[in-house]
Amino acid sequence: FENGLGRTPQMGWNSWNHFGCGINEGLIKQTADALVNTGLAKLGYQYVNIDDCWAESDRDYQGNFVAHRQNFPSGIKALADYVHAKGLKLGIYSDAGTRTCSQKMPGSLDHEEQDVKTFSSWGVDYLKYDNCNDAGRRVMERYTKMSNAMKAYGKSIFFSLCEWGRENPATWAGSMGNSWRTTDDIADNWGSMTSRADQNDRWASYAGPGGWNDPDMLEVGNGGMSEAEYRSHFSIWALAKAPLLIGCDVRSMSQQTKDILSNWEVIAVNQDSLGVQGKKVQSNNGLEVWAGPLSKNRKAVVLWNRQGYQATITAQWSSIGLASSTAVTARDLWAHSSFSAKGQLSASVAPHDCKMYVLTPN
Ligand code: DGJ
Repeated sequence: FENGLGRTPQMGWNSWNHFGCGINEGLIKQTADALVNTGLAKLGYQYVNIDDCWAESDRDYQGNFVAHRQNFPSGIKALADYVHAKGLKLGIYSDAGTRTCSQKMPGSLDHEEQDVKTFSSWGVDYLKYDNCNDAGRRVMERYTKMSNAMKAYGKSIFFSLCEWGRENPATWAGSMGNSWRTTDDIADNWGSMTSRADQNDRWASYAGPGGWNDPDMLEVGNGGMSEAEYRSHFSIWALAKAPLLIGCDVRSMSQQTKDILSNWEVIAVNQDSLGVQGKKVQSNNGLEVWAGPLSKNRKAVVLWNRQGYQATITAQWSSIGLASSTAVTARDLWAHSSFSAKGQLSASVAPHDCKMYVLTPN
């Protein structure tokens, strides 16, 4: 999808995972403020994305979207101006159907060009496009229509397809948008997170600069997983070149949450210019190695303990694409320290936790 956007996976925040339909312009502004004040914006989290429920239930007499009068009284243009003044970008949401998933607002089906023109005129930078209430029409037809409208009137808008269903979007969405969902909705628990990591892994070969697999947004900081589990969630999303869209309340996040989301060495793996999705390369009864190539002949490696007990995990050079004689400097991205390794790399990993490394051949 050649709009020049998404050369690396998108980073930012989205309202849905924490707030659902409970959103308003004060929250969006405070979130933009918090992204800047916490230093997250500087680390690359630039999109402030409004999800479902931002509009009035009905279009106006000309068929235009109207921002929810009570919750967004100043309108979306004013919000975009506010967010832009902070050096950030504003995202919005619609649906390839008659109503969005919440049913609370219209979808864009058969209003594609009109809506993209509206979003452009408001200065919107990102569109997440959901897939509910499809009026029985085929997914390809509905997403092609919006993709064409974006090509014509929304050239500077990042296009995120929220379609994961039966039609394997990875195989066709690359020509239509900058990312596509590979799973249904994540929930804030270990089982949900791990299964989305696995489902997303199947489509690794389709991802690359300009178009990314999307295993759904981050739950880090929402309270349903342990610190170790959130560290694994963030590490695997980064390695898999998934969008890093924060899903917690950044206005009140804990230091622990902030430390995970702010790990710039892990972020750098996600944003590496080579843009190759890391994959599961070894799996032994829940003791896993995930790995992928980085620019400058480096490799990223995650040792992931999905068992409930402490365990030693060993990554073999043969499974991560290194000759067995290669000596490397291994950088531990969570300990922020380096050591030498050759042939293999072993570590003891706590239950549900991970270790993450970048290996640089000497
Ligand atoms: C389904 C999507 O997968 C979610 O991320 C969210 O956008 C909701 N719809 C909103 O209704």
